[in-house]
Formats: sequence, C-alpha cells, structure tokens
Amino acid sequence: MSEVFKHATLGNIELSNRLVVGPMTRISAEHEGEPTELMEDYYTRFADGGFDLIISEGVYTDRKASQGYQYQPGITDDSQQEGWANVVEKVHGAGAAFICQLMHAGAQMQYNRFYEHPKGVSEVRPKGVPLSMYGKLENWTKPETLDEGDINQIMNGFVGAAKRAKAAGFDGVELHAADGYLLNQFLNTEFNDRKDQWGGNLDNRMRFLLLLVKAVHDACGEDFVIGMRLSQITVTDPDYQWPEGEDGFRYLLEKLRDAGLAYVHTTDTAVNRKALKDSDKSLAQVASEVEGLSLIINGGITENNMEDLAEQYPDALLAVGRKALVHQDLPLRLKDGLDIHELDPTMLEPKATLQHELNWRKINLSD
Ligand SMILES: Cc1cc2nc3c(=O)[nH]c(=O)nc-3n(C[C@H](O)[C@H](O)[C@H](O)COP(=O)(O)O)c2cc1C
Repeated sequence: MSEVFKHATLGNIELSNRLVVGPMTRISAEHEGEPTELMEDYYTRFADGGFDLIISEGVYTDRKASQGYQYQPGITDDSQQEGWANVVEKVHGAGAAFICQLMHAGAQMQYNRFYEHPKGVSEVRPKGVPLSMYGKLENWTKPETLDEGDINQIMNGFVGAAKRAKAAGFDGVELHAADGYLLNQFLNTEFNDRKDQWGGNLDNRMRFLLLLVKAVHDACGEDFVIGMRLSQITVTDPDYQWPEGEDGFRYLLEKLRDAGLAYVHTTDTAVNRKALKDSDKSLAQVASEVEGLSLIINGGITENNMEDLAEQYPDALLAVGRKALVHQDLPLRLKDGLDIHELDPTMLEPKATLQHELNWRKINLSD
C-alpha cells in the first residue's frame, strides 16, 4: 500500500495518506438541523481511525427548498453553525481536515420542513422511486420550476452557507453537483428542459455552477478550499450521459477551474467505468488530464483495487464510501494488515441513521 500511504496535499491541506471519507448522508441531526453529539463522535471516529480528510454528508444551504431529508443537518443559522463548530473542533483535535458538502435537493426533495413542494430546474420528476433509507416517501412530488428570484435566492443560500462553514472552522466546502441533486440537474438534459439562459447548450447549463464557484471564491477567499462533486449518474439513474461527451466534460472542468475551483470529485458506479458518450475514458481519467485542478476519485474503491488506482492516478485522492462505513478505521486496518469486511446493507436499513448503526453493531458484532 505504498502508493496509498503517501504524503499528499489538497489546496493548503496536508495529508499523510490519500484516503478520504466520502460524503454520506446519515439523517441523524436534530429536527431543526443542528448536528448532534452522536454526529460529533461519528465523524471523530474516522479521524481516530487514520483518515486525514473527511467530507461531511450533504448539508442543506437555505431555509427554503434546499433541505432534502428529515433530520438532515443544515448550515443556515447560528445554532446549526455552532453545532458544526463543535464537530469541526473534535475532528481537528483528532488530526483530520474536514470539508463541508453543501447540497440543495432540488427535485429530489423527500422532506423539507420549510417548504412543501420541491423546486426543480424544470418541472420534471426524478426517475424511479425515492430512497427509503433516508425516510419513506411513496412517490416523487412534481417540482415547481425555479424562477429568476429562486435562482438568486439559491445562489445567496450557497454563498451564505459557505461563509458559515468557514466561520465554523471547516477547511473547505464541496458543492454537490452530482447524483441528481439541484446543481447536477442544471447539467442533466432530462431534468433541464429550460429554454432560457439556464438551459439548452452546455454553456447555459453550466452557467449557474460557474457563477456559484466564483461567488463562493469571492466570499471565502484564496485559502479556503472549494471543490465540486460531479457525476453523470443520479441516485435513481445509473445510465444517464451528458450529450457533450468527453470534450464537453473537459470544457466544463476547465471553466470551473478558471472560476476558482480547487478540486473536482468525480463519482461513478466504478472509478474506471467508460462512462462518457463517444469516449473510452472514465470521468476520473478525463479529470486527471486537466491541469491545475486537484482530483478526488470515487466509486467502488476497495482494499483490492486501491493500490492500482493510486498508481494509475498518482496525483489523486481516493474517496471511499461504504468501506469507510464498515471500518471507520480503514487506514489503520490496512496498515496493520487486518481483515476488511463487506458492508452488510442491514446496517443502513430500514434507515441509514447513526442510532440504527450503533444498535446494529451491538447486535451483530462481538468486538
Ligand atoms: C449511506 C450513504 C449515504 C450517502 N450520502 C451521500 C451524500 O450525502 N452526498 C454524496 O455526494 N454522496 C453520498 N453517498 C454516495 C457516496 O459518497 C459514494 O459516492 C458511494 O457510496 C460510492 O462509493 P463507494 O463505492 O466507495 O461506496 C452516500 C452513500 C451512502 C452509502
């Protein structure tokens, strides 16, 4: 594991290894969106377990339509910010850097305590059915289309949330433009059928993302890391492809970099899946070719392929999701050559809460 356990940097963050905890929603905040003590302990365990960089679960950004799940944390008022400051202090105390993932649910809203109807880029329902592990909802609600006022308000929400994340002590923010959530919906031609400056060709569909990166950069300054998570897949559609293929993706990344983006975090069903239209490259491969933009890769990274991936992408960080849930001390276990197990999905069922996980561990694990 010599390539994995190599010194690395992300912006001004120094890391002793290249493993990162990927963002994972745990719907375990207070009803009003403040982080809880269980969350403090949960995030600190990753740091104690040898992870030097943790990305938080998706955190909602405004008190309108951004919240997607009941018991999802927010970063929209002083009380939520103070709660996060406590989590950050503990995580830093245990030696890890911490990035806050900022997320607007858009059409994929399953619960929102401020707003009854989802707001979508267009009036398009997501495919498939809502995710039961984040709370039960039979069917997606048809979203209301964003008007110019909504778009302004959403921008202000993200910028305000980024400023609060910085004030809470986070080392950076990750703008969640993957998996079919609002920022991803702008890029996705099935969600976005707008005829105005926000829809149609790629320049229009990426306009909001570029403006957002620039606005967060202006508001938070040079030494605050700004990243973006990008995927073609959505939570209910593993097959979607952007029409512009490899060239379009490269163009998007270059424009984002020029707007002030420090890193891109690609995610897919597998890191090296040939995902792009008219191309034999994966998202990660194309992103690794863009100069001046740091890279985090994600999707199916396990103890079996991480060393090869670390060699193939010598400058990238490797984000793990499910394997980090199974073993919050994954880096230490790998170093010590201990057994690594598969995720038992019942750990997250019927709901992916921290309390359910703790009960599950008591019942199922003897150690
Ligand atoms: C319980 C759970 C919650 C997740 N929540 C988020 C999230 O809030 N934001 C996000 O970008 N991805 C989220 N994901 C996706 C993961 O970050 C990751 O992309 C996915 O699990 C694939 O990586 P893996 O193969 O290492 O598990 C979640 C995944 C799981 C299993």
